[in-house]
Amino acid sequence: MRTSSKSVIRTAVFPVAGRGTRFLPATKASPKEMLPVVDKPLIQYAVEEALAAGARRLVFITGASKRAIEDHFDSDSELEAMLDRQGKSDLVKQLRSVLPSYASCIYIRQSAPLGLGHAVLCAQPAVGAEPFFVHLADDLIRSEVACLAQMAEVYEAKGASVLGVEVVPRRDTEKYGIVAVEADKSATSRVRSIVEKPKPADAPSNLAVVGRYVLAPAIFEHLERIGSGAGGEIQLTDGIAALMREEAVYAYRFTGKRYDCGSKLGYLQATVEYALGHPDLGRDFRKYLNALDVSAHAAHKPRAARRTGAAVKRKAH
Ligand code: UTP
Repeated sequence: MRTSSKSVIRTAVFPVAGRGTRFLPATKASPKEMLPVVDKPLIQYAVEEALAAGARRLVFITGASKRAIEDHFDSDSELEAMLDRQGKSDLVKQLRSVLPSYASCIYIRQSAPLGLGHAVLCAQPAVGAEPFFVHLADDLIRSEVACLAQMAEVYEAKGASVLGVEVVPRRDTEKYGIVAVEADKSATSRVRSIVEKPKPADAPSNLAVVGRYVLAPAIFEHLERIGSGAGGEIQLTDGIAALMREEAVYAYRFTGKRYDCGSKLGYLQATVEYALGHPDLGRDFRKYLNALDVSAHAAHKPRAARRTGAAVKRKAH
């Protein structure tokens, strides 16, 4: 992943206080952001992307059951000493590179999951009066140039907030914030309107905001003022809509492939594709997939059939 050396954006905010209900029970006691894709948790991919875009201050908005994230970015001298004694210096190096010494972490607790807008507002004391990145770790983006680095360039060119967007199937508009833009076909275009999770028939387009933002600090005043919106939560989308009444906001169609790792299917797709591209595993994994007889694993039996099977088994005993 190529990096950005000249970015003026120093702070990245990672809202990680959601409960990840789509992944229960896996996310009951451990955070969704700690789910590994091959050998790194989602939150580490997130931090690497933000560092590649020039961020140095990393602000995590945490909630219940999120302590594992703090532990992940903390140094573990006991583990390092043990690996040293075992001569596993490569692993020690890998552990130390989880968080480079030039980066600092700040953890802020969101009192209750009151919405993404509320989570971002919680970051205000750490961000101050500077532009900042917001990164949602469950949207994993694979790209040559880090997605946030691409967006930082747009921010520098336009001097205004930037939303990472991509085209989604119209039936999916209810899962996203949807924007209408001035120039439909351009990579960067001024946003005319934004609406949270519209029904396909009401959506102004099928251009969806994904989990990447560069936001001007003025967003905080708006987040303070807006009340709760869709789903009874304080929505970042509503804060952005209010910001747009006072200043320009741009949509940017990033270059890269996004995996929705907040959904089980997206998470599995990411796992397979990252494993295929992995320097140590890729070859063997490709061989395994090529040899796999997918039809032999064809779907689960329908419930009725399974019940019949169970009944037959019980009878035989
Ligand atoms: P999601 O809408 O994906 O919610 O939040 P979730 O709780 O993480 O997952 P599901 O839908 O129940 O499975 C989008 C992002 O906003 C953060 C989440 O951690 C996630 O990164 N978030 C959401 C907060 O930090 N606080 C909130 O109050 C709500």
